[in-house]
Amino acid sequence: MKNLLIISNWKLNGNKYLINHFINKISHIVKSCNFSIIIAPPLLYLDYMQQVIKLYKCDNYISLSAQNIDIHNYGSFTGEISAKMLKDIGIKYAIIGHADRKIFHKENDNIILKKFTILKSENIFPILCIGETKKEYQSNQTIVICIKQINNIIKNLGILALQDTIIAYEPIWAIGNKIIVNPTYIQKIHNAIRNYLMQINYKIGKYINIQYGGSVNFTNILNLLKQPDINGVLIGKASLDTENFIKILNTINNNFIPSEVNI
Ligand code: 13P
Repeated sequence: MKNLLIISNWKLNGNKYLINHFINKISHIVKSCNFSIIIAPPLLYLDYMQQVIKLYKCDNYISLSAQNIDIHNYGSFTGEISAKMLKDIGIKYAIIGHADRKIFHKENDNIILKKFTILKSENIFPILCIGETKKEYQSNQTIVICIKQINNIIKNLGILALQDTIIAYEPIWAIGNKIIVNPTYIQKIHNAIRNYLMQINYKIGKYINIQYGGSVNFTNILNLLKQPDINGVLIGKASLDTENFIKILNTINNNFIPSEVNI
């Protein structure tokens, strides 16, 4: 049984022009997609993109996600954005623990746990990124590292906290590298994560949405989505170019019929 979801993470890219162009061009296609789409533009543009999506009448087809939030809901934290503010403008998802935040902002398990907790308190779905470094990958530590990162949540908040949570496995070494990912290898990691969770709570493990992210594009997406434990993909660079993203949507639409759509 498969819940198929495509997430586009714009990172620090885009502007009003791109948002208008992008939504205009994909607006017809998304209406015929039998899978769910989430876009994560820079925080500054969330509200604007939401208005453009409504303008093109595709708010039933595209959801928006924040790329990050603060660990606090309000206070003297200049430059930050809170989960409460996201909720206030109707945003349903937020990415936390992304490799970019770990690398460039030194985010650790403790910070990720705080962000996860605050999202839950506001009923916003966390998109929890996990993944190993190249060194950890080379020393065969991938599964141990991924489970440790998930356990950071389970040990502190309990397994039920993973309900309404999306897990995104993004090996740090595969992000933005034009690496040809091996779908069978990714499937093995997803399967190990799912099995681990199923042992703790069968239902949560079976139905949790596990995304893959790292150099996904229209040429490798199908082989990834064919894997039974990959519920979708979190795409960076290849989703920023409108024509490329349309190719991705069409490739899925023409070749893949998910048995169940659910986010
Ligand atoms: P790329 O698709 O550019 O490798 O980025 C993946 C990613 O980090 C999505 O969050």
